[in-house]
Amino acid sequence: MAGTEEKIDVLTEAKKVYDPPAEVVESAWVRDYDQVYEQSIEDPERFWATIAGELEWFNPWDRVLEWDYPWAKWFVGGRCNITVNCLDRHVRGWRKNKVALIWVGEDGASRVFTYGQLLREVNRCANGLKGLGVGKGDRVTIYLPRIPEQFIAMLACARIGAIHSVVYSGFSAQALRDRIADAEAKAVITADVGYHRGKAVQLKGIVDEALEGTPSVEHVVVVRRQTPPVELHPPRELDWNQLIEQASPRCRAEVMDAEDPLYILYTSGTTGKPKGVVHVHGGYMVGTYITCKWVFDLKDEDVYFCTADPGWVTGHSYIVYAPLMNGATVLFPEGALDYPDPGRWWSLIEQYEVSIFYSTPTAIRALMKYGDEWPRRYDLSSLRILGTVGEPINPEAWLWYYRVTGERCPIVDTWWQTETGMIMITPLPCVPLKPGSAARPFPGIEADVVDREGRPVPPKQGGFLVIKRPWPAMKRTIYKDPQRYEQYWKTIPNVYTAGDVAFRDEDGYFWILGRADDVIKVSGYRLGTAEIESALVSHPAVAEAAAIGKPDPVKGEIIKTFVILKEGYAPSEAMVEELKAHVRHTLGPIAVPSELEFTDWLPKTRSGKIMRRVLKAKELGVDPGDISTLEE
Ligand code: WT7
Repeated sequence: MAGTEEKIDVLTEAKKVYDPPAEVVESAWVRDYDQVYEQSIEDPERFWATIAGELEWFNPWDRVLEWDYPWAKWFVGGRCNITVNCLDRHVRGWRKNKVALIWVGEDGASRVFTYGQLLREVNRCANGLKGLGVGKGDRVTIYLPRIPEQFIAMLACARIGAIHSVVYSGFSAQALRDRIADAEAKAVITADVGYHRGKAVQLKGIVDEALEGTPSVEHVVVVRRQTPPVELHPPRELDWNQLIEQASPRCRAEVMDAEDPLYILYTSGTTGKPKGVVHVHGGYMVGTYITCKWVFDLKDEDVYFCTADPGWVTGHSYIVYAPLMNGATVLFPEGALDYPDPGRWWSLIEQYEVSIFYSTPTAIRALMKYGDEWPRRYDLSSLRILGTVGEPINPEAWLWYYRVTGERCPIVDTWWQTETGMIMITPLPCVPLKPGSAARPFPGIEADVVDREGRPVPPKQGGFLVIKRPWPAMKRTIYKDPQRYEQYWKTIPNVYTAGDVAFRDEDGYFWILGRADDVIKVSGYRLGTAEIESALVSHPAVAEAAAIGKPDPVKGEIIKTFVILKEGYAPSEAMVEELKAHVRHTLGPIAVPSELEFTDWLPKTRSGKIMRRVLKAKELGVDPGDISTLEE
């Protein structure tokens, strides 16, 4: 059979251990992982305090950690503002005219901001927001495409102590409305359009629809990119330029308590309602700063390109906040990875001499499908460190990524979550790599694989991935839902349960296998089966629905749904299309099921819970395991 030999090659290659090149190790911030790790774990508070000392504080902390299980406070009594470390700290020194941000539009247009310019723009926006009556503690929803204003708006909120809630611009009106309503946002910042594969995506229209029934919103600020400009309705709606035109480029950073909220970011869980994960100024600043510095070995000469969208946590931590805290030059293009052609990212890497490239397994598999010819056309010799995040990377994709970039760049497979705020398990560039493994915990982090009772399982045996003590960038609560926060630390007592299954090998390397709960990862996007189900059930024809994730060679998983129709409705192709359109409208394009099957029965427990595990096993033709709780 064609391809068999190749597959055997992949198997043997995947079993190899890949040592980092000597020149990478010699110049790395961390050269001896084991030593740094051991030391950090002997006294984690001292470790984190030393790191915190690399950053600027208005006022030092009295205590590093106050742990009142399951509630943590870090750098207690400390006063700071994360934007001071992102901007002012650099502008006071030689980096004032260093490039902070290079934005590239889909049409090739570009906008460049030095640290000095970025600070002034952020201050203008901050003053503009103040003028609208937005202040410390107020929530601002940001619904923007990948444009510099996204950076500026986030930082401006943080500057004045307002709490931003960034909503990914691929979410639909209803998903946006739910998030605005939960946060009770005072203002919304959006744009007329975003560009995707040459097409203008109308964002303002989505916002208009979302704002029906969200009385908290007093102001809508619109970045207008198109001519003639989209019509605005004052006094509630105003143009971005009008907001910042008259505003002063100077704005003192609000003095924040280390524990004051920085942002809310909604993510999917096992119920239909998204969770508002809350992160704070102090600990988040420390945790993201040092992980970005050590994991990517970030230096002043680097050009850093992370392909995520700031609408997700990867963008918050590792496009906006941490790279700026490290004084990096960030490349930030708008648009898709294969538009106008599949050489798009490779050509950007060549053109801007990108040295650090951080992407997702889904993106790498998509690029792999387009073939070697695309990376081969470009000079990729500037690359130094590669990263991946969001889902497990299969060894085949890992090896391809490694090979087409010259077999000399360490690939850091970083495991973390919206809730953890920062990278938790990852190789550092000095650590030997095993394709498909996220390697070892970051210094200061104690991770384990345990059974349901919390007992560590032996090497090579699967179990639940847990974190055994608090860390500075951990989420502080779930907005308005402290019980849901506590659940993370109480599912298995005294440890943080991540919701992933994993095993450890004999070298202590972690292998993350996937979610243990009803969360699906589609192209690295996190979706709750319950959210998709409740979207379906909100259609008048649907009586019941169940969603499962089904393995897919490019997207990791795709969504398959099973639907029971109400009396009087008949299955048809047209009904399939209508239900898909309904999900698109309710949640957004990322949640649309790839497959939809009509059924008249769903497996349930005696208490009436749908057993998705059984559906999945049936779909994949495997043994469903214990089905003793099944109702019939
Ligand atoms: C879930 C968190 C963290 C930024 C993007 C996702 C999965 C994340 C990896 C990895 C295997 C991974 C886990 C995790 N995940 N990174 N390197 N290897 N799985 O954030 O949307 O909060 O999702 O993504 O299942 O729990 P998120």
